[in-house]
Amino acid sequence: MAENRNHRFYATCPWGLEKLLEAELAGCGAKRMRPTPSGVLFEGTMEAGYLACLRSRVASRVLLEAAFHDYYDSRDIYALARSTPWEEYFGLDQTFRVSISAKRAPLKSLEFTTLRIKDGICDRFRDVSGSRPDVGRGTSNVQVAAFLDQKYCTLYIDLAGEALFKRGWRTEKGEAPLKENLASGLLMLSGWDASKPLIDPFCGSGTIAIEAASIACGIAPGLSRSFAFERLLGFDRSLWTELREDAKSEVNLHAPVRIDAGDISSIVVKKAEANALRAGLGALLEDGRLTFSVRDARELEPLAGEPGVIVANPPYGEQSNPRSATVGSMMRKVADNLKKRFPGWTAWLLTSDRHLPGEMHLKESRKTVLFNGPLECRFFRFDLVAGSNRRVRKSGEESDGNLGKAV
Ligand SMILES: C[S@@+](CC[C@H](N)C(=O)[O-])C[C@H]1O[C@@H](n2cnc3c(N)ncnc32)[C@H](O)[C@@H]1O
Repeated sequence: MAENRNHRFYATCPWGLEKLLEAELAGCGAKRMRPTPSGVLFEGTMEAGYLACLRSRVASRVLLEAAFHDYYDSRDIYALARSTPWEEYFGLDQTFRVSISAKRAPLKSLEFTTLRIKDGICDRFRDVSGSRPDVGRGTSNVQVAAFLDQKYCTLYIDLAGEALFKRGWRTEKGEAPLKENLASGLLMLSGWDASKPLIDPFCGSGTIAIEAASIACGIAPGLSRSFAFERLLGFDRSLWTELREDAKSEVNLHAPVRIDAGDISSIVVKKAEANALRAGLGALLEDGRLTFSVRDARELEPLAGEPGVIVANPPYGEQSNPRSATVGSMMRKVADNLKKRFPGWTAWLLTSDRHLPGEMHLKESRKTVLFNGPLECRFFRFDLVAGSNRRVRKSGEESDGNLGKAV
């Protein structure tokens, strides 16, 4: 893998964040980018691949293309696997695993096709070296990912290993935690930047607040973890060391920022704090730039200073916490409090409940469809209008109303 030659890559991300990923990849030196649903195809040197793993906050994986061809049946796919020079990527002492994703592929069995890809890879090694590598059962150090559509098969080598949203700090989780890359995507979509105060009133394991603090301090998301590409043949250690050192030099733990997170459960608040410490944010916890507290979102108070931004994913469905009534009635009270105390703030809420604005008696000013794993969600924006807590009727007379746009 000569470092200065161009490769083809595919970076994946949660559905709905492709545009954000494209912008991030452009900053990593990606060329000829082509967004697809849930990802971006791009070209670039290995440096672009390393940088995407290190710096992209919204990518889930970065895959390096090893082979691409049209196919008719699984015999063609076997032949493609057998003719690919895997020996340039990994050695006989490494175990490998094959995963497969298919969309409208005209094949009888994907399981059988996966086996044929494994056979093709083993036979390739036997052809060139006389022995075959081990197919990993548990953790393997090389992951081959096959993508099939109706006509084409692409074989990739996964550069990430553990998915990229696993930054290494979230060892403790609350209920229904957001993936770290989706949390970062929400912050980017909200337009929040470190000059504005940020509150997550339903913080759970602290994902949104920790991602926000990492953005504010310029901590690259992959700075404290390892990647599968470090185990591939041709890995350019000195380039990688340089890229990591550059990223380290950008960290500024003194960045001025104010992020506040809370949750009704004291257990998850402890977990969130422990996660923030593991994410290297101890300095912000110490001087109060990042705070976590146990509190009820219905009694939320704004932070001092200019109006800021609320980004959260409130609970949905039945809650396990007996202190809360149904989510709908709880969210109504949350909205009443926001209308009263947060004029000028913008609230962004991710939920799978499309009736949330109605339940809150607020009209959203924007909504974006996103997927939280397999769950279709909406990311609603509510502008909490500055001014008095009274709504002006057409006649000019004031009535008790709300500061958001009434439905
Ligand atoms: C969907 S989870 C948030 C997950 C979080 N974003 C994460 O990544 O871990 C919703 C959270 O809201 C909390 N919650 C429920 N009712 C609440 C209330 N009235 N006030 C504050 N937090 C509440 C729950 O304890 C739960 O942690």
